[in-house]
Amino acid sequence: MKYSLLWSATLVLLSSGLCHGAGFVIADVFRGITGGSVTFTTSVKPTAEPFLALTWGFNGTTNVITSTTVDVVGQGYENRVEVDKSTGSLVLRHLTEKDSGEYELMIIPNGGEQIQGTAKLEVLTPVSKPTMACPTGNLIEAKTSVKLACDANGLVSREWMKDGKPVAPGGRFSFHEGNRVLSISPVDRLDTGGFLCNVSNDISFETTNCSLKVFYGPDRPIIDQTPIGAELEDRVTLRCSADSLPKATYYWRFKHMLISGPVHFIHEMEERHLGKYTCTAQNSVTGLETSEVHKLHGT
Ligand SMILES: *[C@@H]1O[C@H](CO)[C@@H](O)[C@H](O)[C@H]1NC(C)=O
Ligand SMILES: *[C@@H]1O[C@H](CO)[C@@H](O)[C@H](O)[C@H]1NC(C)=O
Ligand SMILES: *[C@@H]1O[C@H](CO)[C@@H](O)[C@H](O)[C@H]1NC(C)=O
Repeated sequence: MKYSLLWSATLVLLSSGLCHGAGFVIADVFRGITGGSVTFTTSVKPTAEPFLALTWGFNGTTNVITSTTVDVVGQGYENRVEVDKSTGSLVLRHLTEKDSGEYELMIIPNGGEQIQGTAKLEVLTPVSKPTMACPTGNLIEAKTSVKLACDANGLVSREWMKDGKPVAPGGRFSFHEGNRVLSISPVDRLDTGGFLCNVSNDISFETTNCSLKVFYGPDRPIIDQTPIGAELEDRVTLRCSADSLPKATYYWRFKHMLISGPVHFIHEMEERHLGKYTCTAQNSVTGLETSEVHKLHGT
């Protein structure tokens, strides 16, 4: 990324007569990135005559570079500053967060009044990729609670997303430790999917995610009879289904019989087939079972 910072040094315009001696512009905060470079470009018009002196300082105390007939580079700035002697513009390389602060420029031209300016610099480090431990055990609807923790270095803000939408606190969702932890209590089948943690600062973001799979059901079974108005001697099918993850297993009870499987066929319906059929759905992971009764009667 290249941060080209345009900065207007205050020119003490000799001709304007508006300024009294030195003037200052506090420019906006400029951003740099750790390891990157920044250019403070002044609006000084290049002059034919070299300046008598040009100096860049930092935070009011530190010499960055002072240029007269020789250059005096401040400690810690060796090999990372470059000054344009005709405009006063400064390039600062290999930025670290410690370079954040205020920079002051002073130019003494060869004739005329001195020129001053300041600029603020904020150097930010891109966030590193966060980590998140995903739950390993089975998540069961209405029974299990989970806590997702999004760990990241430095001063960052965190946002949680599910299916591309922000997760809002409230109900089963709550946030803890400044959004580091998302607690879901208890989980619901709707939570199946990817939970993403987005860690960001002003210049960058990184994400990590966990895929959740919530086991649920079986819901109350639905029983389908075909044909609906079956008559004696008809072929009749009873079909049982219940929403469930993993898929449910089924059995039917009729009188003293146990019939396994979701579908029960009667090849030719007789009087002895009439009566109450109970379908039971079972989920091996949630350990739950549900039943529904169906009455088969000949018309
Ligand atoms: C420079 O000044 C800023 C405030 O303007 C301060 O936050 C920063 O710590 C200072 N840096 C150094 C190295 O003194
Ligand atoms: C992460 O957050 C940053 C800052 O709010 C945003 O610009 C970026 O689009 C987000 N990324 C994702 C994948 O949500
Ligand atoms: C979740 O993370 C995996 C790898 O860690 C990635 O392949 C996948 O695209 C991510 N999903 C989303 C929604 O960001």
